[in-house]
Amino acid sequence: MTYLVTGANRGIGLEFTRELLKRGESVVATARDPESAEELQALQKENPERLTLFSLDIADLASIEAFVNEIGARAINVLINNAGILERCGALGDIDFEVIERSFQVNTIGTLRLTEALLPSLRRAEGGAKIVNLSSKMGSIAENSSGGSYAYRASKAALNMVTRSLALDLADEGIIAFVVHPGWVQTRMGGPNALIDTETSVTSLLDVIDGADASTSGSFQEWNGNTIAW
Ligand SMILES: NC(=O)c1ccc[n+]([C@@H]2O[C@H](COP(=O)([O-])OP(=O)(O)OC[C@H]3O[C@@H](n4cnc5c(N)ncnc54)[C@H](OP(=O)(O)O)[C@@H]3O)[C@@H](O)[C@H]2O)c1
Repeated sequence: MTYLVTGANRGIGLEFTRELLKRGESVVATARDPESAEELQALQKENPERLTLFSLDIADLASIEAFVNEIGARAINVLINNAGILERCGALGDIDFEVIERSFQVNTIGTLRLTEALLPSLRRAEGGAKIVNLSSKMGSIAENSSGGSYAYRASKAALNMVTRSLALDLADEGIIAFVVHPGWVQTRMGGPNALIDTETSVTSLLDVIDGADASTSGSFQEWNGNTIAW
């Protein structure tokens, strides 16, 4: 099986790449600057046949087009849209709308644009394909009991809606799409006080992804297998 992972140079994306290689999968790993991604480069040296690295900035249309052109006719069985940003936009009364725009450009628009551009590769996967979008519990409207975080919450809630439409629009083609919350994970984004490490999150998320079928499509899954309310 071929997996495509965005934002594979660090954090959860790097761990996805590591765990998938461990179990013998082929991985197309993307990063904004793969040349300086030391851990990814090391994995590439250990797995030259199964790991290919590409440069990709999902907020840049030209970068998406160049990447899709480079991978050509390759089939993708599982697309893991992991790349995302969490930037503080300030509290109500002092909101930085540039941060809101940037968050939508990456978390929502970039993810959808890449997914759309990769549809031919997903359609080429025998036996159907899976689109897994890394969202967050912070994007759940039902779970929002503390307010704030306008940029991150809204861009992930919009990603949830985008994913639901993808699930419906692609159902007849055997392509499923769902969002996952990886837990509060120790990464640059999650910080050192987060509750779980990347290995715990990703190995459990891979169980969720492996088990996903048509009944999972259009749903919001937690890393530990629970379903989250929208
Ligand atoms: N950690 C958590 O607790 C947590 C909780 C809920 C959801 N999530 C979600 O899980 C995903 C991974 O999070 P993480 O904790 O691993 O975050 P992270 O350590 O901050 O890593 C984010 C990754 O996204 C990449 N990225 C950012 N902007 C990009 C762009 N325009 N194009 C391509 N790649 C871009 C980064 O690349 P650069 O190195 O080039 O910046 C990096 O590889 C995110 O979508 C996040 O929202 C994380």
